[in-house]
Amino acid sequence: MRRYLPLALILVLPFSSALAQDKKIEKKVDSVLKLMTLDEKIGQLNQYTGDRDATGPITNNPNKLKDIRDGKLGSMLNVRGAKETREVQEVAMQSRMKIPLIFGLDVIHGYRVTFPIPLAEAASWDLEAMENGARVAARETAASGVHWTFAPMVDIARDPRWGRVMEGAGEDTYLGSKIAFARVKGFQGKGLGNLDAIMACAKHFAAYGAAIAGRDYNAVDMSEHTLWETYLPPFKAAVDAGAATFMNSFNTLNGIPATGSSYLQRDILKGQWKYTGFVVSDWGSIGEMIAHGYAKDKAEAAELAIKAGSDMDMESRSYLPGLAKLVADKKVSVSLIDDAVRRILRKKFELGLFDDPYRFSNEARQEKELNAPENRKAALSMAEKSIVLLKNENQILPLSKSLKKIAVIGPLGKSEKDMQGFWSIAWENDKLVSLYEGLKNKVGDKTELLYAKGCEISDSSKTGFAEAVQVAKQADVIVMAVGETLDMSGEAKSRANIHIPGVQEDLIKAIQATGKPVVVLVMAGRPLIFNWTADHVPAIMYTWWLGSEAGNAMANVLFGDYNPGGKLPMTFPRDEGQIPLYYNYLSTGRPAKNDKDTRYRSAYLDMPNSPKFAFGYGLSYTTFDYSGLTLSKTQITANDKISVSFTLKNTGKYAGEEVVQLYLQDKFASVVRPVKELKDFQKVMLKAGESKTINFTIDKEKLSFYNQQLKWVAEAGDFKLMIGTASNDIKLEKDFTLVN
Ligand code: BGC
Repeated sequence: MRRYLPLALILVLPFSSALAQDKKIEKKVDSVLKLMTLDEKIGQLNQYTGDRDATGPITNNPNKLKDIRDGKLGSMLNVRGAKETREVQEVAMQSRMKIPLIFGLDVIHGYRVTFPIPLAEAASWDLEAMENGARVAARETAASGVHWTFAPMVDIARDPRWGRVMEGAGEDTYLGSKIAFARVKGFQGKGLGNLDAIMACAKHFAAYGAAIAGRDYNAVDMSEHTLWETYLPPFKAAVDAGAATFMNSFNTLNGIPATGSSYLQRDILKGQWKYTGFVVSDWGSIGEMIAHGYAKDKAEAAELAIKAGSDMDMESRSYLPGLAKLVADKKVSVSLIDDAVRRILRKKFELGLFDDPYRFSNEARQEKELNAPENRKAALSMAEKSIVLLKNENQILPLSKSLKKIAVIGPLGKSEKDMQGFWSIAWENDKLVSLYEGLKNKVGDKTELLYAKGCEISDSSKTGFAEAVQVAKQADVIVMAVGETLDMSGEAKSRANIHIPGVQEDLIKAIQATGKPVVVLVMAGRPLIFNWTADHVPAIMYTWWLGSEAGNAMANVLFGDYNPGGKLPMTFPRDEGQIPLYYNYLSTGRPAKNDKDTRYRSAYLDMPNSPKFAFGYGLSYTTFDYSGLTLSKTQITANDKISVSFTLKNTGKYAGEEVVQLYLQDKFASVVRPVKELKDFQKVMLKAGESKTINFTIDKEKLSFYNQQLKWVAEAGDFKLMIGTASNDIKLEKDFTLVN
């Protein structure tokens, strides 16, 4: 006889079985912890780098393997590959407790196959694609014996001088939170313990992206209100997505190093958010509290960090020599150490490493996964989605496939390595497709491809211009490749001058002067400034650093085999003097009505307030019409919802995708609100001529904000709803009221 479970029980089962699983793991953790000496416990909190150092100084410690054998290490970073991880794990298995090591690595935008840099991916506004990108990276990474990526970086960044903007999702909290959630889900897949899932690490906790003057590692000084409203939500989203780990940050926040901040790590993360994962320090950040002038020596740094909730010491070597004495001196309690060890052991159990410490180090699986053609395909598709079309006067683009001669000009035209971008994994015999090669793949022998470099990236010399102009004159169309080399944006890559480097813009002027049609592709890790180009060149695409398939993606878009739909996730300023410049600024008492309205206004005398390209901006080869906005109600109570709908029509000749953006303004509130805030979006595909009804829902959550007491509230009052194609291009708007 068949037995059916009652529905209520079925619904409850997954949750209760997860709880049972948790309890089982807790029991196992306790049973291991009981057997450990204090030194072994402290060992679990210690992380060294392997020989493939990515960012820090190479610490050549001949005793590393001995330390592993002696149980003095819980994790290593920069060890990768099925064979290498197995060999190191074998050493851990020679330790008394045989506790497996966790291997971590900066898998930021792909492992074997390089995806576009995270900021570029954010321009796709395609959450599913970004989740899938992280999934591909996780599969490749896990098959190579690595259990943990130090990603996603979920720092909001409003300052393009800061080199690490390339690693995040841009300036917006709502978009950034959605992306944080998607990326964590992507890395962790169906959950830790699966052979294709790796631990995610939300970093850098917190407010690292707000370094004063955009200078990396610099102090951060911000109001509690801004911290909660703008900088913390993406981290909360990462917690909600189940992020296994967090990384703290190098910066001070309001005078306290984040690494030593119990407010951030204990009160907020582990307290209010009930976080059960562990926190790893950033590289050396515990020891750096000495340089900050916060701790007088490593022992004090260790004491401050462990008390503040930093569970694992990445490479500062403070916990290992320091903690035992601090316990002996009764400055640090064993229970504090036990809590940190428990958090780390829990993840080792969840990963299944106690059952089989080598389960991820499988050469056959690695071989198969690292050569999977679908991974490259996913990288190509992500690269196409990441491109932003900034300008397309007279429909120069897409290019015709019957052109006789195309000239590729500019220092990045044939570059492969720069397509990889900062924070990519180095491989021998890597295959990255340059723009030139991508075009060659596309046009074959039908079109002649000419080439001239013109100048180097940071050149002051114009000696290559004459040849470039000669080449340009022979072509029907010129495609220019300018921007930054891969080492110009990234960690410790802040720049005070973010204009296109060197004489590249002069090269553009010289080529434009030939009178030939010019298309400029800007390849970079951050928003750059190129005002002359923006004003004079008819067609411009922002292609960032697009990864392994860069050239093929650019060629597909140039020839219209893919219709671009990317939208900027960061504001592009006209000048460094405007920075920080972002779309959701607070209302002022003297707002400028427009760019000319400067008299006793919140404005500059010498420059408009507006950006060169706004957040959310990006064109398509087709055009879209927005009409017929209706709201189901214009007055609601906090328990009500408003159904919003309107018609989106593709009015052009090509099928294409539009990112429709919903912004709200809370007109009067107990804390001054931004002029507008992104609160929802949809990416919609429409065939040429097709119309579709687009629906959104406004609920209390969308109307809420942090009040003066830092409570998340929705206050009664008037709101403006705006639907647009960019933050500065609102197509439809209507007011509504929230009543008590
Ligand atoms: C970076 C982290 C990175 C770590 C390990 C640090 O310098 O700030 O983001 O995960 O190095 O490579």
